[in-house]
Amino acid sequence: MDGDAICRELEEKIEEGLDFNSVKELAVARIHESNERFHWTGIYELFPDNTLRLGAFVGAPTDHVFIGVGQGVCGSAVAERRNMNIPDVNLISNYLACSAETSSELVVLIRSGEKIHGQIDLDSHEIAAFDDAIEAEVQKVADFLARRYDGWPVFREA
Ligand code: SME
Repeated sequence: MDGDAICRELEEKIEEGLDFNSVKELAVARIHESNERFHWTGIYELFPDNTLRLGAFVGAPTDHVFIGVGQGVCGSAVAERRNMNIPDVNLISNYLACSAETSSELVVLIRSGEKIHGQIDLDSHEIAAFDDAIEAEVQKVADFLARRYDGWPVFREA
């Protein structure tokens, strides 16, 4: 995937007046379609009650709409304040299964310094689908969105 190209398109759409929720939906769609090994792509947003809430996503609906900080891969990423690249989800104990088909998962934090806004979560049916290069490209989009969360806090209320 080309994170810079996605950010450029998002910037253009913002200049044209696209609302922030639609920007997030477009970001998820563009990431998802960039690699056929990405089978589920979504954004979880961190709310003041220390719960991650599912926002825009592409892929099968999941039961995990709310995830507490510290729970699963997603909640652990927030608790430990770091990205998570899990090559084989079957080998970890605190995994929350979205789909029985998922084999690997990547969580990239959307953060502005110490402030964590949420995360981009990717699942793949393939083992070890995510590498450092992919993480770096997803991080570009996450960093772009982080700057928008800073600029437009009103949209957090949606
Ligand atoms: N697997 C995640 C839950 C989210 S679903 O993958 C969409 C976790 O363990 O936190």
